[in-house]
Amino acid sequence: MRPLIRTARCCLLRARVRAMATLPMAPLAAASISSSASSSTRPVFSSSRPSRLLLARFFPAAPAPVGQRGLRTSAAAAAAVEVGGVKIARDDVVKEDDPTNNVPDTIFSKIGLQLHRRDSHPLGILKNTIYDYFDKNFAGQFDKFDDLCPLVSVKQNFDDVLVPADHVSRSYNDTYYVDSQTVLRCHTSAHQAELLRDGHTHFLVTGDVYRRDSIDSTHYPVFHQMEGFRVFSPDDWSGSGMDGTAYAAADLKKTLEGLARHLFGAVEMRWVDTYFPFTNPSFELEIYFQDDWLEVLGCGVTEQEILKRNGRTDHVAWAFGLGLERLAMVLFDIPDIRLFWSNDKRFTSQFSEGKLGVKFKPFSKFPPCYKDMSFWINDAFTENNLCEVVRGIAGDLAEEVKLIDNFTNKKGMTSHCYRIAYRSMERSLTDEEINNLQLNVREAVKNKLNVELR
Ligand code: DAH
Repeated sequence: MRPLIRTARCCLLRARVRAMATLPMAPLAAASISSSASSSTRPVFSSSRPSRLLLARFFPAAPAPVGQRGLRTSAAAAAAVEVGGVKIARDDVVKEDDPTNNVPDTIFSKIGLQLHRRDSHPLGILKNTIYDYFDKNFAGQFDKFDDLCPLVSVKQNFDDVLVPADHVSRSYNDTYYVDSQTVLRCHTSAHQAELLRDGHTHFLVTGDVYRRDSIDSTHYPVFHQMEGFRVFSPDDWSGSGMDGTAYAAADLKKTLEGLARHLFGAVEMRWVDTYFPFTNPSFELEIYFQDDWLEVLGCGVTEQEILKRNGRTDHVAWAFGLGLERLAMVLFDIPDIRLFWSNDKRFTSQFSEGKLGVKFKPFSKFPPCYKDMSFWINDAFTENNLCEVVRGIAGDLAEEVKLIDNFTNKKGMTSHCYRIAYRSMERSLTDEEINNLQLNVREAVKNKLNVELR
């Protein structure tokens, strides 16, 4: 789903599979790095730059530039956070000396914030509205989880939901690894297997998910998803004249069409066949909204193997996953994904519990400032790594990082020129501030990515 989202982040796994299925990958040993970028308006594309380089962490040791040292200190000082009864300290997640760890402090600082659990935050309002739909139509049936720890095993995040060993989403370029066996979940599907094993047959899981990605107004490395899951037993479909799969697919479509109407009103909808590793058949639901087709979610009939492995042989199930930011941006007219993280009263005071779809009124738009930088890339260069460095220095002031020029010279050296848009959602930035940021970004890009600035 990042766009989970060819247009929604929720479809990343599908889309990346499409693009990358044939590419060789050995993410943990000799990490092959691929670059990927996507947005809510252009199709996800992924291209790979297989590298024989062993990843000595993403960024080879270099003194932290000023901006980043500041971040480190403040995050290091932060107390441990607690999520779902699990205490998570900064040092449990950010391990600068561990080559199998690629979690920066900017990411650690988001763990535990749980925007989806704030009832007056757009994401909390949306979550609660979806809960209302399930409560109204399936009273008491769906168990709800919104506090499961985002630190999960590679097995939970990938193997348990049948993500192939060579799938691009497993790469260090796309996923935050705490160590070779532990990741920050990149989707809420990571909890399907454990909940099934615990005996749950109807559940909704909402949580923060983490993905390394490009920078633009619809992409942020932490976002929120909701997973839905429903199991059927043979008794459910025996009298229907359908087989289990057809029965589950029909129920899935009916349920999700109802959900889309609950959120968007009487809209035109269409179903698109797609691919996910964990469902077969797999679909996307799109609605016609504000003069365009909008992907709402990904879903399908759960692969039998998942049910079999988790104590539900002879059952069938459906599952869906949706990206909360993507839908909230449309429903509340929120123009930039960074706003969800804002504590500015001019943002937070516009939303209140239970009020879905109140239109956000931008508090005067502050001007962006553009800075270009060009460098000769190397084999290990990826745009995700670049964006991580930029965010490490500029934080949320980085609005967009965009490749604007790309050429290879006669010697085979490739130059990239990136345009960075800096903009605060809350105030005007001074020239001096931007110039300093850009200087620090240039230093960090040179040192951490080992590229040659031009
Ligand atoms: N996990 C998928 C993603 O993050 C979204 C998804 C698609 C979840 C289909 C599902 C599903 O449960 O059936 O891209």
